[in-house]
Amino acid sequence: MKLLSVASEIYPLIKTGGLADVVGALPAALAPQGVATRTLVPGYPSVLARLGKAKTLRRYDALFGEAAAVLAAQVEGLDLLVLDAPAFFAREGGPYGGPGGTDWSDNWRRFAALSRVAADIAEGGLKGWRPDIVHVHDWQAALTAAYMRFGPAHAVPRLVTIHNLAFQGRFGADIFPALGLPPEAWGVDGVEYYGGVGYLKAGLVSADAITTVSPTYAQEIRSPVHGMGLDGLINGRVDRLHGILNGVDTDIWNPAEDPLIARRFSGRALGARAANRRALEKAFGLDQDDAPLFVIVSRLTWQKGMDLMIEALDHLVGLGGKLALLGSGDHPLEGAFLAAADRHRGRIAARIGYDEPLSHLMQAGGDAILIPSRFEPCGLTQLYGLRYGCLPVVARVGGLADTVIDANEAAVSAGAATGIVFAPSDPLALHGAIGRAVALHRDRTAWQAMQRAAMRADVSWRQSAARYAALYRSLLAEAA
Ligand code: ADP
Ligand code: GLC
Repeated sequence: MKLLSVASEIYPLIKTGGLADVVGALPAALAPQGVATRTLVPGYPSVLARLGKAKTLRRYDALFGEAAAVLAAQVEGLDLLVLDAPAFFAREGGPYGGPGGTDWSDNWRRFAALSRVAADIAEGGLKGWRPDIVHVHDWQAALTAAYMRFGPAHAVPRLVTIHNLAFQGRFGADIFPALGLPPEAWGVDGVEYYGGVGYLKAGLVSADAITTVSPTYAQEIRSPVHGMGLDGLINGRVDRLHGILNGVDTDIWNPAEDPLIARRFSGRALGARAANRRALEKAFGLDQDDAPLFVIVSRLTWQKGMDLMIEALDHLVGLGGKLALLGSGDHPLEGAFLAAADRHRGRIAARIGYDEPLSHLMQAGGDAILIPSRFEPCGLTQLYGLRYGCLPVVARVGGLADTVIDANEAAVSAGAATGIVFAPSDPLALHGAIGRAVALHRDRTAWQAMQRAAMRADVSWRQSAARYAALYRSLLAEAA
C-alpha cells in the first residue's frame, strides 16, 4: 500500500513539538504493516540543507503565483517529497513565524500551497508514483482533504489526524477566492467556519476518517470544554472518529543505547542512572544531593499548565525537591521561571530554549517529569519518561490519562504503578501530586519498582501502527 503523508514538521529535520516526532516515526512503524510511506513537507532552509542528492519530480511556474518544485530525497531512512518554494519557505525563523515569534501573515498561502501540491500528487501529478491513500496532519495540511474532495482525486481515501484542536488555521473569508476551490466548497459543509475559512474544519468535513492521538482525547473533543468550537461537527462525524495512541521511536529513545546521555542504563541496572543525575545537576548548576529531582521539558504555555507550575514552585522546594526546567514559549512564563530560579539557587534551574540532546539527559537523570497540562491530545514526554524511568507526574487528561498508571495503593502493591496521576488541573491537585511524589521517593525500593514497571510499559508504535494500517485497509475496501 502506497501512503502519502503530509505535514508541516518532521523529525529530525524540523521540529517544534510532538507532531514532528510522530510524522518522523510513523513511516518506519508502518513499513512492517506493508505500508510504504512518502512524506511531503515544506522546503524550509533546515530541510533543504539536509537533502543531499535530490531529484526534481515536478516544477510549478505559478503555485499561488510563485515558482516551486517538488523534490524527492532519502534522508535518515525517510522517503521525502519536499515542496521547494522559496517565496514561501526560504525564511529565517520557525516554520510558522519569524524569529520574534509572530506568525507569518501569509501562512494561509504557505499551507494552502502545501495542501494544493499534496492534492496534485493524489491526482497522479508525479510521474511514476501515485498514492493509494492520503494521510494529513493538523491544520497546516488539512486543506489537502478539501482539495481532494472537490477535485479529480475525490475517490482516493483521505484521513485527517488532529494533533491539537487548539490550532485550527482560521483566516478571513476574503482568502476564499484565492484558494482555487470551486464555489460549492464555500458553506457549512465546506471550508466556511464562523464566517471565515477554517483549514482544520475543512479537513474534518472532507475526510473519510478522522483520527486523534489518544482514545481519551477522542472522547474529550466531543464536549464543549475540549471541542474548541468543533465539538458539534466532531459529534456529527463520530462514526468516522478514532483515537489511536502515539508511540515513540524506541531506537532514538532507548536508555540502553542513547548516545546523548552520560551513562547508558536499563531497568536491571538502575544504579547507572546516578551518573546521568550528576551530569544533569551539573549542567543546570543544581545542588548535588539525593533530593527528588523533578524535570520539565515543555512548551511554556497555558495548555501545558505552566502557570499552575509556577504557583507550585515554592511548595516543591519547601518539600525538599529540586527542579530542572527546559522550555520556551510565552515570555511572562519564561520570566517567571527565571525569577524562581534566582530565588531558589541550587534548587530550581531554568534553561530557556530548545535543546534536543539536553532533553534526553533530563529524562535519563531526573527522578520524575512534571506534566500538569490542562489538555493533552497525547503527550510524548511522559512516554519518554516511562522509557527512561523518569516517572511521569501528570494531569488526568487526554493521552496522559491513557498512558500513566497512578501509584494508588492497589496499583503499587500489584506492581503496576508507573507514575502519579492527578485531577483536576489546578494548583491544589498539583501540590498534592508533588507531595505524593516526594513521599514515594523516600521509599527507594517502591520507587525503583515503579521505575522498572514504567520501563517495561510498551510505548512503542507496534500496536498503534497496526491500528493505522487496519484503518487504511478499511478505507481502501470502502472505496473499492
Ligand atoms: P507538544 O507537541 O504539545 O509540544 P508533546 O509532548 O507531544 O507536546 O511533544 C513535545 C516534544 O518536543 C517532545 O519530543 C519533547 O521532548 C520536545 N520538546 C519540547 N520542548 C523542548 C525543548 N525546550 N527542548 C527540547 N525538546 C523539547
Ligand atoms: C500535539 C499535542 C501533543 C501530541 C502531539 C503529537 O502537539 O499537543 O499532545 O503528543 O501533538 O501528536
